[in-house]
This record gives sequence, C-alpha cells and structure tokens, in this order.
Amino acid sequence: MVQFSDEQLKKVQEIVERYPDGKQKSALIPVLHLAQETFGGWLSAESLDYVASLLKIEPIEVYEVATFYSMYNLKPVGRYVFEVCQTGPCMVKGSDDIVDHIKTTLGIGVNETTADGLFTLKTVECLGACGYAPMMQLGKHFREHLTKEKVDGIVAELRAKAGN
Ligand code: FES
Repeated sequence: MVQFSDEQLKKVQEIVERYPDGKQKSALIPVLHLAQETFGGWLSAESLDYVASLLKIEPIEVYEVATFYSMYNLKPVGRYVFEVCQTGPCMVKGSDDIVDHIKTTLGIGVNETTADGLFTLKTVECLGACGYAPMMQLGKHFREHLTKEKVDGIVAELRAKAGN
C-alpha cells in the first residue's frame, strides 16, 4: 500500500495551502512529483488514486494530468532516465543521432529499460534549453550540447557510480 510519511503529508498540506480554498487541485503537479520520488520513480494506478484521495479530487483528474506530461512515468523505470529532447531545434542539431546512439549503446528502444535496471530511454518535447541543443534531462539536471562521445562518457560515469 502506498502511503506518504507524516512529514510528507505535512509537505502536501503546505503545498495545498498555497492555493485558495477549494482549489486544491492546483497542488496536483508538485504532489505527483513527490509521489513519483517517493514510490520508486514511477506512478502506479494505486499511487494516482492515493494522490486523488489526498487532494479530494476525482481519480480521472489525476490520470488526465499524469498521462499528459512526459515527466511522469507510468511504468517502472531504470535508476537513470535519459529524457532526450526531440523537438525542432534539438532535432536540427542531431537529436535523432543521439537517440540512435543511446539505443545502440544500451541495447534498448525508446520507453525501454536495460535488463540491469540502470537505464531507461525516453524522448520528450522541448525542455526549454534549445540554445544548448541537442540536450537531455537526466534526473534533476540537463546534459547539454550532446555528442556521441559525451553520451558514452555519461553512460560510463553512471555505470561506475552504480558499481557496474
Ligand atoms: S528543442 Fe530541445 S530544448 Fe528546446
């Protein structure tokens, strides 16, 4: 059963109180982030229903948001998620080649996770860092001006960090 800690429930309350009475749905995005961080990096149906019950809104209202934004994972993901931008400016600067290189290097397709559970590859829309194209989000950070060599370095760095 998914359940926030008392401290996290306090945090949810703080977020809800940022908005006028009856507008607790406005807290949905940050609360979904908290749920994703807390419940293993992804949002199960149980987690989505839990968030709906906390915010006293209909589950469908949570599903609509969670399925719209690529930042929410609706199935289990690896420890490291490569979210490669594929919108125009990044595409012009070679994001297709970067995605292909990641696929070949890791032996996975888009929305797949390596067998060791380390890496997931996703493609996403513009992340607002077009001036640094091609780029991807990795956790809370951006990796910019990507090249195949840079990707190799990132993969090696993360494998070393994970002890693989
Ligand atoms: S197009 Fe890739 S960050 Fe904007």
